[in-house]
Amino acid sequence: MEKVRVSLNENSYDIIIGDDILGNIGKNLDKYKKVVLISNETVGKLYSETVIKSLKDEGKEVHYFELPDGEKYKSIDSALKIYDFMLDRNFDRGCLVLSLGGGVICDLSGYVAATYMRGIDFVQIPTSLLAQVDASVGGKVAINLPKGKNLIGAFHQPKLVYIDTNVINTLSERDIKTGLAEIVKHSIIYSKDYYDFLVDNADKIKQLDSETMIEMVRWSCEIKADVVSKDEKEMGIRAILNYGHTFAHAVETLGKYEIYRHGEAVSIGMKIAALLARDIGIAGDDLLAAQDRILDIFDLERAVIIYNEDTLVELMKKDKKAKNNKLKFILPKQVGSAEIFDVSEEDFRNFYRKQNGRKIKAVIDIGTNTCRLFIAEVEDGKILKKYKKFMEITRLGEEVDKNGYLLETAMDRTVETLKQFSEEIKAYGVKELMVHATSATRDASNRDKFMKFVKDETGLDVECISGEEEARLSFDGALDEFSDDIVLVDIGGGSTEFIHGNKSGIDYLKSFNVGSVRLKEKFFKDENYKLNMQVAKSWVEKELEGLRVLREKEFLLVGVAGTITTQVSVLKEMEDYNSDDVHKYILKKEEVESNLKKFMELSLEERKNLKGLHPKRAEVIVSGTLLVLWIMEILNKTEIIVSENDILEGMMKKVK
Ligand SMILES: NC(=O)c1ccc[n+]([C@@H]2O[C@H](COP(=O)([O-])OP(=O)(O)OC[C@H]3O[C@@H](n4cnc5c(N)ncnc54)[C@H](O)[C@@H]3O)[C@@H](O)[C@H]2O)c1
Repeated sequence: MEKVRVSLNENSYDIIIGDDILGNIGKNLDKYKKVVLISNETVGKLYSETVIKSLKDEGKEVHYFELPDGEKYKSIDSALKIYDFMLDRNFDRGCLVLSLGGGVICDLSGYVAATYMRGIDFVQIPTSLLAQVDASVGGKVAINLPKGKNLIGAFHQPKLVYIDTNVINTLSERDIKTGLAEIVKHSIIYSKDYYDFLVDNADKIKQLDSETMIEMVRWSCEIKADVVSKDEKEMGIRAILNYGHTFAHAVETLGKYEIYRHGEAVSIGMKIAALLARDIGIAGDDLLAAQDRILDIFDLERAVIIYNEDTLVELMKKDKKAKNNKLKFILPKQVGSAEIFDVSEEDFRNFYRKQNGRKIKAVIDIGTNTCRLFIAEVEDGKILKKYKKFMEITRLGEEVDKNGYLLETAMDRTVETLKQFSEEIKAYGVKELMVHATSATRDASNRDKFMKFVKDETGLDVECISGEEEARLSFDGALDEFSDDIVLVDIGGGSTEFIHGNKSGIDYLKSFNVGSVRLKEKFFKDENYKLNMQVAKSWVEKELEGLRVLREKEFLLVGVAGTITTQVSVLKEMEDYNSDDVHKYILKKEEVESNLKKFMELSLEERKNLKGLHPKRAEVIVSGTLLVLWIMEILNKTEIIVSENDILEGMMKKVK
């Protein structure tokens, strides 16, 4: 067992570190008779029993409070629930708050302890690697507000931090890496010896070797304790612990806290900081190489992410640490030492403009029925991280078949959606953007007016693409995953594209003016599907006559886009749409038939509440499903492989 002392005058305390010591926690809390143990459902299930038993064995009164798992529970709402729980059980200032969990539980419990009756004692049992080496040490406690992270908080030192390194064995690989990023950070800012230790013992660390883990956690805690002892309230040197954080906060915020975990954002931030240090002459190539080396050894993120420069700089200027238009960066001079530097906005912009890396890109597809936005991280034409897809039903093509032009109301709806998309594009820090309009716009006599209207209202430049181009892009989007010959079918609202080919090329490509909205408008406007079914089928068969040449060929039938993906989400009755469960699902003809039966038995209103069916799709899902079935019949196939990758992915690879 190891002990690290955090020296802060009357606020001093010990950090105890050992392997498999959880069952002895009770023996280390002599002073307290009554304890509230706070944990979450994940950690609680694994370890609360051991902790409660140990406390009870020492004769303590224990009350256990369990929260759901997740950063969103580091909230004022959770704090209020815990205050109530403690008040109802007559907790007074002589009692103890004991946390058992990762950084979320540590921060929240610490905040509750700092504020309950003007502050009561608390002890941390950090269970994630990140919490053991960082969140539990130093006395910063906080909760999040909807407007941002850690906005409400206090400095409230624990009475003891009790670390059992054995619990790391149940942590996910991603969470282990999150902790390792902070550990690497400690070495870069403070100790070359620690850096060497980490590099030399990397294999043992990766295997979670018990002795090595204890030594590593001790070393990191010592570094953090040393820095905090010199500057408890972060008036000076403590800020070096924020190495990598200026950029990391932007990475977390621009990804809406959904793309990168804190530790991942920190290692990305460290990469940018080291590049910046070199650029402005504070550090040399050697520092950058040494840092890259250790990040690679532990397989930590070190991508350079290229956001929209203005969005990024604005965000960094809002950071608590930025003053007088100067950006504050912690920059390393060499491995083992770092300092705070003011960097002018101009210097930072000049530096950032020179960087290459993964660009945040967005594409918008303005279709007949829907408008879709896709945001992703792309490098050299490869989609490396999918951020988010948005979909709105705008029915731009409403009645275009009948009138030959786009209705004013439909254009208004589309522009409203595009305005919302523009907000998202800004909020994600998108660097490059491409907007395509497909069949409805293509067919409309007033398409130039529509595109000008979009430009005037939203600033977006829309390119109207041909059916062939649309087909080609869908094919590019889906192809990566298939090595055999495929026929890709992309059923849209106004047109459907078919492409036959493989990785070496395309040998059949055609766009037909048959789509779910078009079919509905033409034959089923009144929702009476049975009446016109045969006429509709004959029309589709006639329109798709050209497809029959494909019947001679060998291929897998691959389907993309909402009409087809919805077949799977309805079959699986998904409450929340889960792309992973939809992607590559092999959809059988009988399954499509059973969906069709279900859709036709329900009224439009009832369909809007059907599990797995987006209410906005309820109107055109019957006609869409009929199309799926008839296409399978024409192509003589009983199965269709569902792909989540469609024209959006194809466009994403193309956007410059
Ligand atoms: N106060 C500080 O100085 C400080 C410093 C760094 C980070 N933080 C805060 O810490 C939080 C992030 O901490 P985190 O990465 O530990 O997140 P977390 O608390 O959400 O834990 C990550 C995941 O691991 C699970 N988990 C924790 N221990 C486990 C174990 N032993 N076995 C299995 N699963 C386990 C958790 O339930 C959770 O699902 C953020 O809110 C951040 O702001 C605070």
